[in-house]
Amino acid sequence: MHPTALTTEAELDDRLSDPPAEVVESLARLDGDLIILGAGGKMGPSLAVMAQRASDLAGSRRRVIAVSRFSGGSDQPLRDRGITTVACDLSDERAVSGLPDAPLIVFMAGRKFGSTGDEATTWAMNTYLPALVCRRYGQCRIVVFSTGNVYGLVPVGGGGSREADTPRPSGEYAMSCLGRERVCEYFSRRSGTPVALFRLNYACDLRYGVLVDLAHQILRGEPVDLAMGYFNTIWQGDANAMALRALEHASSPPWVVNATGPETLSVRSVAERLARRLGRTVGFTGTESDTALLSDARLGIERLGPLRVSAEALVEWVADWVDHGGKVLGKPTHFESRDGSF
Ligand SMILES: NC(=O)c1ccc[n+]([C@@H]2O[C@H](COP(=O)([O-])OP(=O)(O)OC[C@H]3O[C@@H](n4cnc5c(N)ncnc54)[C@H](OP(=O)(O)O)[C@@H]3O)[C@@H](O)[C@H]2O)c1
Repeated sequence: MHPTALTTEAELDDRLSDPPAEVVESLARLDGDLIILGAGGKMGPSLAVMAQRASDLAGSRRRVIAVSRFSGGSDQPLRDRGITTVACDLSDERAVSGLPDAPLIVFMAGRKFGSTGDEATTWAMNTYLPALVCRRYGQCRIVVFSTGNVYGLVPVGGGGSREADTPRPSGEYAMSCLGRERVCEYFSRRSGTPVALFRLNYACDLRYGVLVDLAHQILRGEPVDLAMGYFNTIWQGDANAMALRALEHASSPPWVVNATGPETLSVRSVAERLARRLGRTVGFTGTESDTALLSDARLGIERLGPLRVSAEALVEWVADWVDHGGKVLGKPTHFESRDGSF
């Protein structure tokens, strides 16, 4: 039996930001305000609301402060939830120096798409901007969003990359993400800043994610490419919870953790299942390669779990959501890219 399917955006947003008891307890052990940098994207709003709800449940007077340019839309929904918002371009050093003080930081700003052809902007966003943040908030606990792309492709069936594995990033996006990690590690080691490097693989919130990409390809009648034949994904609510709990684990030198679901999912099987649920047929091109972008989820789940939504439930939710015409962001993951071009 799966947890009840979600039918409205209000239900979805509520579920994505519902703090598990572990988050309430973890944040209650930490003092002071929390700043979320780059809060205006796909994950930031629900993560900010989860932090606010957890703090309210604990009876804490913590302020949750969401910082972003808010280029994608109004900050009003966040303010309606009691979150303080600050419009700021984090590449502007003066603006960063004027941001509020707080002991807890979640750093989510980054650039992926559009990297090919404008590599310099991606490097600036993913390495220069974190340096500004580490200098500004050198005395704080910082969770830095990173990506499983820093590992590169690994053999399918090997259990996925582990945190201690040597990174082998492919393409300039992944290289710049490793650059972000190294810059943060440098400041952490130099100044003793507690940092957690949070290597996320494919959050899914029903409005975007690998499963949503596949469902829409099926609806459009497009064949699904099997070359990247396997993937990991995680319910975005679980990823939010893990990121907030990672604050407690931040250390110098940085603590590195993978954040993804425990299942190695087959593109072929998931697409067939989605197609059945959507009453469609699915065609395929190519064949599965013997490598894929996969991460070992065990450490993250052991320290920051348990996860509340299985991949099986997520597939059902996505099928229902897409079937009833639920809103999608139109931001494909391009998970099928094998050469690291984005
Ligand atoms: N979602 C995933 O599955 C996934 C997987 C692996 C890694 N990640 C990484 O995790 C982080 C959060 O994910 P996400 O999906 O929420 O990313 P996202 O949708 O790209 O959101 C990041 C937000 O950061 C803000 N930002 C960018 N440049 C900024 C600047 N100069 N100043 C202030 N704000 C800036 C942008 O919002 P404004 O326009 O409001 O400024 C942007 O929407 C990102 O770094 C992403 O690359 C995500």
